[in-house]
Amino acid sequence: MRVWSKRFILFHWLLVSTIVLGYLSIELGFEELHFLIGYALVAPLVLRLYLFIFGNTYERLSAFAVIKDFTKYLKNKESYIGHNPLASLVMACMLMTISILFLSGLLLESFLEFQGLFVSLALEVSKETTAFIKNVHAYSFNLLLLFIALHLAGLGLSYKEDKTKHIQSIFTGRKNA
Ligand code: HEM
Ligand code: HEM
Repeated sequence: MRVWSKRFILFHWLLVSTIVLGYLSIELGFEELHFLIGYALVAPLVLRLYLFIFGNTYERLSAFAVIKDFTKYLKNKESYIGHNPLASLVMACMLMTISILFLSGLLLESFLEFQGLFVSLALEVSKETTAFIKNVHAYSFNLLLLFIALHLAGLGLSYKEDKTKHIQSIFTGRKNA
């Protein structure tokens, strides 16, 4: 059965591409490219917001309500068609961390480089505030790496007994019910 729409699949791989390219660009010292890729992150984030409201049953914000079944899931390991409670928790953390990474990046570009969306605030912020936002950007990236590792570990663990074609679903949109 179809679980993820084509839009959801597009959102996922746009998100993955911007995160990977965002990291590579700053590591290789291409700052301007880093800002451009950073701005491109708005596409998957807006698409996800749209899907939270207009997506299918498994994509809407309400699908994250399964997080409340967390302890029940750990005991019984029931199978879920959409995200399971544990995966939902990790994914909600990823989405929140990415939003913080995005916002702190926008502020940082304005405060450090005197360009970008918040440049009008640049002269009013103290050095301490800028240093704080720099830390927020750096730490949120490190936190994201941890969540990505958990996400991939979860997928890896489910790989062997994956009767639902869970991993393939992010390419095909389909799972075995
Ligand atoms: C695609 C998602 C992003 C990733 C993965 C990412 C990652 C990083 C990393 C790893 C650093 C180095 C942090 C450190 O160790 O000090 C950094 C620095 C920075 N990023 Fe991002 N970032 C992203 C989005 C953005 C956005 C949206 C902007 C603004 C348009 C931005 C602007 C900056 C700035 C100004 C710096 C500081 C450079 C410096 O220290 O001089 N980033 N980013
Ligand atoms: C930078 C690396 C990655 C990031 C940041 C990332 C992020 C995410 C996020 C945020 C979601 C939740 C979607 C939502 O409901 O909003 C998700 C779901 C998913 N991702 Fe990733 N992902 C990454 C890499 C991968 C890779 C390499 C694969 C496997 C080939 C993968 C497979 C999946 C699958 C199968 C789901 C749906 C899980 C389910 O059925 O519950 N992801 N990913």
